[in-house]
Amino acid sequence: MMQPGTPGTDCTFADGANVLRTNIEQIYGGYPSRDGCPLATGEITDIADGTMFIGLQRYANEYGSPYKLCFGPKSFLVISDPIQAKHILRDANSMYDKGILAEILKPIMGKGLIPADPVTWSVRRRAIVPAFHKAWLNHMVGLFGYCNQGLIDSLYEASAKNDAPAGQSGGKIEMEEKFCSVALDIIGLSVFNYEFGSVTKESPVIKAVYSALVEAEHRSMTPAPYWDLPLANELVPRLRKFNSDLQLLDGVLTDLINRAKSSRQVDDIEELEKRDYANVKDPSLLRFLVDMRGADIDNKQLRDDLMTMLIAGHETTAAVLTWALFELTKHPDKLAKVQNEIDTVIGDRTPTYDDIKSMQYLRLVVAETLRLYPEPPLLIRRCRTENVLPKGGGREATVIRGMDIFLSLYNLHHDERFWPEPNEFIPERWETKYVNPDVPEWAGYDPEKWMNTNLYPNEVASDFAYLPFGGGPRKCVGDEFATLEATVTLAMVLRRFKFEFDSSKLAESKVDIMKHPEDLEHPVGMRTGATIHTRKGLHMVIKKREM
Ligand code: HEM
Repeated sequence: MMQPGTPGTDCTFADGANVLRTNIEQIYGGYPSRDGCPLATGEITDIADGTMFIGLQRYANEYGSPYKLCFGPKSFLVISDPIQAKHILRDANSMYDKGILAEILKPIMGKGLIPADPVTWSVRRRAIVPAFHKAWLNHMVGLFGYCNQGLIDSLYEASAKNDAPAGQSGGKIEMEEKFCSVALDIIGLSVFNYEFGSVTKESPVIKAVYSALVEAEHRSMTPAPYWDLPLANELVPRLRKFNSDLQLLDGVLTDLINRAKSSRQVDDIEELEKRDYANVKDPSLLRFLVDMRGADIDNKQLRDDLMTMLIAGHETTAAVLTWALFELTKHPDKLAKVQNEIDTVIGDRTPTYDDIKSMQYLRLVVAETLRLYPEPPLLIRRCRTENVLPKGGGREATVIRGMDIFLSLYNLHHDERFWPEPNEFIPERWETKYVNPDVPEWAGYDPEKWMNTNLYPNEVASDFAYLPFGGGPRKCVGDEFATLEATVTLAMVLRRFKFEFDSSKLAESKVDIMKHPEDLEHPVGMRTGATIHTRKGLHMVIKKREM
């Protein structure tokens, strides 16, 4: 009989007994334990205050990579080294699965790519990746412009209000929420041809999407899966509400799937990739998945694929937009450089695919934002087969079967050994290949080579020191889509508006500075969910830009 956790089987290592035994071995099986990793000790408040990734960074500075963290009977290895990240994500990928994350997300995403078991994952990944082909992405740039028009109109409305606090002039607006809305509108139209129109209105369906997102985040931050307890779904009001919202959303998705299936036109992938999108009524990704020859998949799988894309592709992009605007507002010289580029390349036009490629500085702003604020800041894995983690710049370790892993993108992206002035927002670092000239030899990473290959910042160019979209076989399928989306949105908004921080809200957002010295750098504060949020929104004063 196959054992749970054997690579290539369709299990996700959900056998609790094994996991518990591993954890008991880790903690109580003698110290130092068999894995050879130090145990980080500290206060639970170091990591339980809403910015867990910052607490994990402090420990990494003290203990190196990997170190072990225990919460009661649960323990995690925290990885902050590029060579070890490459091992887990790429070289030994089949020895790891999504572990606890899959358990948490399964009730929401079913067998979608993120929580899927290995067999389903490889079938669906092969079906979904071709849907993000060049002609489609090209067409999507126009769709991003269309969806942004609603955002621009609502920003004009806000800028005309003149209700800024004393000492400032302009209208007040909360931009994190606005970016969330436009990202939802974009994902709705592009993935399943559904017009949420959330920038301008509220609806039960929009509320249901947010409820699913909030619940997904809440679950990923909750140590005990109370939703699995008998009768919990009937008795706990938040679960009752969540289940009824999910039902509503499922109804909408099923309806869209049925409609797409009833007008199915079967084609080969090559034919689908040659589609003249300018004359296609429904250019959505759902249409592609339904029309693909040999793709007679059941409604449930399609529903899971769509729900996964909706959740994975919405908040991540909204967070990048939020932090890019935040950093540019903090750095007026860099904002001026971006606006100058936008004025020169597109002016008042809606950007095209070629325009985006020409706005090199704006694209580097997006890359640098993702370095400072990786979304998500931590990747989660569980070891399926015992294996040896290479030393890299840390220590060699044995990863015992069942061990849960936090791979900290935040630590990698703020590592001074690679990124001089790691906490500074310097988009130019990517132009001048401003990496540390003394990058250690073990990293196998050659700044000279990088300088000459002129690669856009990614995990390959940086040899896994910069992983905004992950790496290896589980790398994000929407990386180019998201980069284009963020660039179009920023170009359209920054061309037309000027922003300042709303001074009356900054003090409100600040928390205890002694406990959160980083808030000096982050006057709006940071809070983790699945992505990095502001503490209380990005409150801005907005004015029309004079041109
Ligand atoms: C996976 C980041 C946008 C769909 C991932 C992963 C990262 C990531 C880091 C790897 C997770 C892991 O290894 O555990 C981002 C960021 C985005 C973004 C920063 C925006 C700036 C999108 C969009 C879509 C999308 C727009 C879809 C339209 C997915 C899916 C996966 C994924 C389906 C799972 C892939 C798999 O397991 O095979 N994303 N993502 N993402 N992303 Fe994205």
